[in-house]
Amino acid sequence: MNQHIAKKESPRVISISSGKGGVGKTFTSVHLAAHAANKGLKVLLIDADLGLANVDVMLGIESPGTIHSLLTGESQFEELIVHCPQGFDVLPGGSGLYELTSLNVSEQQTILDTLREAGQSYDLILIDTAAGIGENVLYFASAAETALVVLTPDPTALTDAYALIKVLSQQRGVRRFMVIINQTDEIDGHVTFKRLLSVADRYLDVYLDYIGHIPQHTSVRKAIQQQRLLDDSDYTMRPHLNQLFDKLLQRPRDHSRAGGLQFFWEHTLAAGIDDDDSGNNGDTVQQAAL
Ligand SMILES: Nc1ncnc2c1ncn2[C@@H]1O[C@H](COP(=O)(O)OP(=O)(O)OP(=O)(O)O)[C@@H](O)[C@H]1O
Ligand SMILES: [Mg+2]
Repeated sequence: MNQHIAKKESPRVISISSGKGGVGKTFTSVHLAAHAANKGLKVLLIDADLGLANVDVMLGIESPGTIHSLLTGESQFEELIVHCPQGFDVLPGGSGLYELTSLNVSEQQTILDTLREAGQSYDLILIDTAAGIGENVLYFASAAETALVVLTPDPTALTDAYALIKVLSQQRGVRRFMVIINQTDEIDGHVTFKRLLSVADRYLDVYLDYIGHIPQHTSVRKAIQQQRLLDDSDYTMRPHLNQLFDKLLQRPRDHSRAGGLQFFWEHTLAAGIDDDDSGNNGDTVQQAAL
């Protein structure tokens, strides 16, 4: 039933970004991808930290190629996709390729066109971006339906998260953000979020949705060193992450954004259904327009 509904909706696209580097974007992305796949969703994780990609390293997978060969036309999307044993697909980003660090407009268009086509078969597309406010980050975050911002309670991470939210809202019209505070406890997570919220509320026209915190734990470093995901033996972190990601996935879809991939898919879906005179009932149209 879940699958049935998901197929009629446009894929949900979530970018995972941060102002400061090293705060846990990739860790969050890979575990969210695995969690959603475990729930029966068809998930694509795009490693969009172009030039310094490391989703493949964290997952211990070998990439047959990178986004670079997609841009040069050497490879098709399907040839680059890695079907991970964890049940989701990865589009590897490419490491050490300086030319990927700032995509030009035609390269951005190639990626968008590819995702418009190939992305439709997924329920959830996660985009793990680079840190900071570079052009690639702004581009990927504004192509998404929801921007998830990861930070730690560190004051510099907080300042940089605010800067990212400010630039995305003022320059790209992104108004809604999900927030996860990593490497902290519940109280500190709340305090940090409140700090971010109070500045954002005062100076920006944005809505911040606090999903929750992720504790700091030695099992994370150990898992990353072993190039594997946390498993059920990591009994302190797994239940917490499951709860956190359930909460995130249960958040209502945001259909207010008039840009990006979701806008395109919803209009294509709606047009397809309008053109279809096979007697589909209003139910279907309603699902597609949701
Ligand atoms: N909850 C946590 N508990 C303990 N250590 C953590 C936790 N989250 C992240 N780390 C540590 O922080 C490091 C950086 O995490 P990660 O690579 O996910 O960050 P990132 O934001 O993707 O970095 P970059 O900006 O370089 O892409 C990890 O290698 C891990 O050692
Ligand atoms: Mg990363």
